[in-house]
Amino acid sequence: MRQTIVMGNWKMNGLTEKVKSLISDVSRETNSTSTNVVVIPPYPYLALVRSLLVNTPICLGAQSVSEFQQGAYTGEISADMLADVGCQYVLVGHSERRQLFAEDNATVARKFKQAVEYGLTPVLCIGETLEAREQNKTIQIVVSQIQAVIDLCGIEALNQSVIAYEPVWAIGTGKTATPEQAQAVHQAIRGWLTEKNLEIGQQIRILYGGSVNGSNAQSIFSMPDVDGGLIGGASLKAHEFVTICHSFDTTD
Ligand code: PGA
Repeated sequence: MRQTIVMGNWKMNGLTEKVKSLISDVSRETNSTSTNVVVIPPYPYLALVRSLLVNTPICLGAQSVSEFQQGAYTGEISADMLADVGCQYVLVGHSERRQLFAEDNATVARKFKQAVEYGLTPVLCIGETLEAREQNKTIQIVVSQIQAVIDLCGIEALNQSVIAYEPVWAIGTGKTATPEQAQAVHQAIRGWLTEKNLEIGQQIRILYGGSVNGSNAQSIFSMPDVDGGLIGGASLKAHEFVTICHSFDTTD
């Protein structure tokens, strides 16, 4: 059995008061879930959130990381720093980073490598555009996004990672993939990895992301190759996020 995970990616949202109330509500109401819960606030709030999470099972993650180790890189945040302030997870290759900040597969692979080197768990975000889906290129695209990481870091590095499949057309659009569409891609990814390395293919957690909310989480999470969710908009609403975190508890 793979341990299930639900992650809340707050993106560039939330000031201090919002951060405090969200963490207070989420930590109070996710105590009893068997799912791992991870919150991913913006950088300036990592230390605050870490202090609010003491004595809770909730883990802390960051939204991105520098591809560089240290030094004269103004505005960058290193993997070493993220580990130092208590992060356990870090997103790499989120589609907003790929699309708005020109991160290509090679950059994402370098970020992944930094994360692994400093003991963080990289959450490798992959996914196709609507255009690519319509041209039946979904699997080709997601596989090439993973292959770039394997080329730089070796397949063993995936042991220490999580994959998040997020179709670009489903992110923030309210248009979620159907459970069957998500399952088909997750199964293909797992099958492809299993051919390369049986253990990694079977053990790696593959999360779904893209317009997951309290009403659709349970049906998506009921799919055999969906091990959790990466939640954007709905993670800013405590009640919705808590419902999503509990969705696995009721799918068995
Ligand atoms: P969304 O975002 O849940 O708002 O669609 C998901 C994500 O970007 O991780």
